Amino acid sequence: MTIPVKQIYPRTGDKETIYLKHVITNPNITVGDFTMYNDFVNDPTLFEKNNVLYHYPINDDKLQIGKFCSIACGSKFLFNSANHTLSSLSTYPFPLFFEEWELEKKDVTKAWDNKGDIIIGNDVWIGYEAVVLAGVTIGDGAIVGTRAVVTKDVPPYTIVGGVPAKPIKKRFSEETISALLEIQWWNWSEKRIARNIGAIQSGNIEQLK
Ligand SMILES: CC(C)(COP(=O)(O)OP(=O)(O)OC[C@H]1O[C@@H](n2cnc3c(N)ncnc32)[C@H](O)[C@@H]1OP(=O)(O)O)[C@@H](O)C(=O)NCCC(=O)NCCS
Repeated sequence: MTIPVKQIYPRTGDKETIYLKHVITNPNITVGDFTMYNDFVNDPTLFEKNNVLYHYPINDDKLQIGKFCSIACGSKFLFNSANHTLSSLSTYPFPLFFEEWELEKKDVTKAWDNKGDIIIGNDVWIGYEAVVLAGVTIGDGAIVGTRAVVTKDVPPYTIVGGVPAKPIKKRFSEETISALLEIQWWNWSEKRIARNIGAIQSGNIEQLK
């Protein structure tokens, strides 16, 4: 069996769906094997430009996405440089215009508040036009509903939705979630995953154990 993981376009004739890791050029972004991005509005290969926003090299913040994630059209990852600082008396970004105001160029990062990196686990499904904010960690197997704004960490195998995103429900019982986190099928070899696809798709943890 040939799994075309080394190709940008894994589906013959479909230029809207890509394996995301192959188009990443920014060293501050990492994406795991088989994670897919679909875009029917813009060119999906422009993910770094269109979907990872306010992510300036000077800030050195990271976007880490695991394996086997499904990222829907128009999802956005909003980074720290979008956060005009709230600790000063004005939100106007004076440090950005250091020439105008004769400020130190090295202080440009004082224009925004830093909340940290964005970490997405494995087998995470991010719905259409969802927004994930800086500093958020999303656990393995979680689902982010369409148009959610994720402001806080999402535990593994939890569905969240809304603005701000709140837990809607857990996907499985605590026992099943523990078993899945223990098994970590996404770290298996391709051959082993291929042999067990039926069990992964079954919805029955006993088959996978
Ligand atoms: C989040 C989602 C997966 C939940 O699916 P589900 O488990 O079948 O959910 P239900 O329809 O049973 O709804 C459960 C509750 O969540 C709410 N809900 C569902 N989706 C929601 C969303 N995106 N935002 C806020 N609330 C949502 C429902 O109103 C319902 O609320 P209630 O319990 O108060 O009545 C789904 O609604 C969704 O948003 N899917 C994303 C689809 C998408 O973007 N696809 C892109 C192509 S990959």
